Amino acid sequence: MELEEILLERSSLKRKTLIANEMESDFSNTPERLAELYGEYAKLRADLLEQQTQLSKYIQVKYKSGCSGLEITKWHETTTQMHPASEVLNDLRNRVKGPLMTQAWLKFYEILSNIPELILSVDLTADRFTTLHLCEAPGAFISALMSYWANEHSERTDFPDWYAATLNPHHEESDPGAVIRVDTLILEFPDRWVFGTDNTGNIFNFGSLASLKGKQFHLVTADGGVDCSADPEFQEQNSADLKAAEYKGICYKLKPKGNALLKLFCCCHESTLKILESAASSFRKVELVKPASSKAGNSELYLVMMGYFGRMAPLENTVGFLENNFSTISQGLKAFDCLKCITSHIAQIPN
Ligand SMILES: C[S@@+](CC[C@H](N)C(=O)[O-])C[C@H]1O[C@@H](n2cnc3c(N)ncnc32)[C@H](O)[C@@H]1O
Repeated sequence: MELEEILLERSSLKRKTLIANEMESDFSNTPERLAELYGEYAKLRADLLEQQTQLSKYIQVKYKSGCSGLEITKWHETTTQMHPASEVLNDLRNRVKGPLMTQAWLKFYEILSNIPELILSVDLTADRFTTLHLCEAPGAFISALMSYWANEHSERTDFPDWYAATLNPHHEESDPGAVIRVDTLILEFPDRWVFGTDNTGNIFNFGSLASLKGKQFHLVTADGGVDCSADPEFQEQNSADLKAAEYKGICYKLKPKGNALLKLFCCCHESTLKILESAASSFRKVELVKPASSKAGNSELYLVMMGYFGRMAPLENTVGFLENNFSTISQGLKAFDCLKCITSHIAQIPN
């Protein structure tokens, strides 16, 4: 595979006011037409799921797993081996020393390197760069940001002023399956992590960001995920409430003109399409990106939002947006073409 084929893919979404035939589309903004369009997006998603299903079948056969469900460790091992960028992290760990040099570290470093406007578009003449990281344990995005800043903004003597929020690994009621137990960064910087009025850190709970009252940030990231290994094909639907809560948290805590990053799982379900449309109307520029360092075997993508207008547009869809952005979103899913390559290659291997 050529290097150019696996570089970070970017697709820009058009905001509502830029859609040429908006007036015309508003006439056809009927529930029936919306349902029809949701169906077309569902077909896009089905295509991606088909590739993942084929790959998982192959792994089951290869490892002769007797159990009905795919052993998740085998899935991880195989998708990692087949991942074209898998060597990058090992190589980097040998050359660069830093805390939490994980796949998440690499993804965020890659996004910052490819989209430097995430920092450069902010007017920092008077201010210190401020960041908030939602759903952030163990904290690799923070570590990547500090490394990137040290390398690319060495002229500045100050480092970003960061805060993070996440499920509290030390709360007695925390679900062991949902929290990340690696707590080195939390223990080292206890004043930088916020866990809300009930100390759980759960972004769903009222007051989860209460201690940041009055603070707004230049950059907000949200990288939340829930364990969907039991039914990976429903990852997008099962994460819908979390994604909506993170998106609202971003809009609540972002300074006007600020930038944001939100992890999504695929982008074809109604819940995600509503976030995409709201974002396209609340930010100057919105892009879907799949970093090369993110495995094609998973369905994650990142929504990059730049230039916040200072108010969140409602979470709803219009026919005009869905019609006009269909090709861009399917283009965004082309980032998974690497998975298609793998599955078509597998199809040629005799049993
Ligand atoms: C993929 S990890 C984040 C990785 C992180 N960006 C990094 O670079 O190390 C997803 C995080 O979301 C957190 N999370 C999941 N559900 C959450 C919720 N309801 N409220 C707050 N955090 C949540 C998990 O506990 C986990 O720490």
